Amino acid sequence: MFDKQQILPIACDHGGYEMKEYIKQKLAGLGYKIKDLGTFSSDSVDYPDYIHPLAKAINDDEYKQGIVLCGSGNGAQITANKYRNARAALCWTVEQAELSRRHNNANILSLPGRFINKELAMEIALKFLNTEFEGGRHQRRVEKISQTL
Ligand code: RB5
Repeated sequence: MFDKQQILPIACDHGGYEMKEYIKQKLAGLGYKIKDLGTFSSDSVDYPDYIHPLAKAINDDEYKQGIVLCGSGNGAQITANKYRNARAALCWTVEQAELSRRHNNANILSLPGRFINKELAMEIALKFLNTEFEGGRHQRRVEKISQTL
């Protein structure tokens, strides 16, 4: 369960801009404290420029969880996962979001702004924010993720 007293950062490129604005407003309406790291219009930008700062901040423990968006969700997820302590999950369904938290302890949700509708994106975000990591055998697996060969 993400604590509403903590700051929730959100970042996107132009492909995720409209969805980011919708989610930001809806979450704020529910009492979440959102830190908007851009982009701030639908003008074309390069997604790494906006995703790196969010992922680095999560990596450095400045924030507990965050949300990133781009057109497909892929570029945002791939960029975020360059950081050792980032576990970004690209989610298209509520079930994926639930599993990304329960099994993978995902700390970044990546949403595909051009492939799902904003209402579903909001449901996915709420499931992500309100699902706990199960630990146990999954803890061992998560610890192995950064043990590259
Ligand atoms: C931008 O056109 C698009 O490539 C970007 O939003 C994202 O889908 C990249 O993975």
